[in-house]
Amino acid sequence: MKVVIPAAGRGLRFLPATKSMPKEMLPVVDRPVIQYVVEEAVAAGADDILIVTGRTKRAVEDHFDLSPELVTPEPLPAMVELDRLSERATVHFVRQRQPKGLADAIACAERHVGKEPFGVLLGDTINVCDPPLLAQLSRRFEELGGRRSVIAVEPVPDSKVSDYGIVDGTEERPGVYAVRHLVEKPALADAPSRLGITGAYLLTPSIFAAIRRIEPGRNGELQLTDALNLLAEEEGVYAVTFQGTRYDIGDRFIWLKTNIDFALKDPELRPRLEPMLRSLRL
Ligand code: G1P
Repeated sequence: MKVVIPAAGRGLRFLPATKSMPKEMLPVVDRPVIQYVVEEAVAAGADDILIVTGRTKRAVEDHFDLSPELVTPEPLPAMVELDRLSERATVHFVRQRQPKGLADAIACAERHVGKEPFGVLLGDTINVCDPPLLAQLSRRFEELGGRRSVIAVEPVPDSKVSDYGIVDGTEERPGVYAVRHLVEKPALADAPSRLGITGAYLLTPSIFAAIRRIEPGRNGELQLTDALNLLAEEEGVYAVTFQGTRYDIGDRFIWLKTNIDFALKDPELRPRLEPMLRSLRL
């Protein structure tokens, strides 16, 4: 399976840290977010990954490159881990010339993807899911006939509705919605439901033709949600809920929480962190 990872966003919520560093390189404990995302794609069966980068994102490319200065007689464990990842999947890069929106970033992948369905994961979002989220979406895709795009959704609180693409659909079976319509970041009063698009997609290649037909939408950007609306009308789209937890690292609070959650899973850090957290008694 091919997986496309858009990593071209500007990271405005994380300035000044992201002024000259890509938000996808923010560390969670000791790995950059993008490494978790690539690991997640590989765990779901991806053998070919295309990361869509842009200006100021060179560090993302360097991260998956060989670093001769880190090749030591006794290989460093962190480097061995990265090498293994690169052995399991080829990581390619393409640059988006201007940050014109998520749909435009996906369009940059057209030539690479070709005519097969493909997965999309966002470069700033970690999904801790078992089975991996894209594997859950692929299973649904096959179960539902293998011809319609499948997008991951989860219920979002009222206060977050205007941060997400929101789904209007009919629940055909538990957790599976036939999409009627999608609205990108609506005002609460205009939201057709509380089901938010989480940013993991299994798309049919017809998405590329749909992207060519959309106009700039919310925030003047080419929105993937608008292209999916065309697919919903012409080909059908399913929205599905999933098992697992999603961490949107572009949000400062979630980034902090993710660091704590992941550090508590680390056998070296947990014994020191847990007593510290208990002692805070906030
Ligand atoms: C994008 C999508 C939106 C989705 C969100 C999930 O928005 O356009 O539909 O709900 O990702 O994070 P962004 O967060 O890039 O503004």
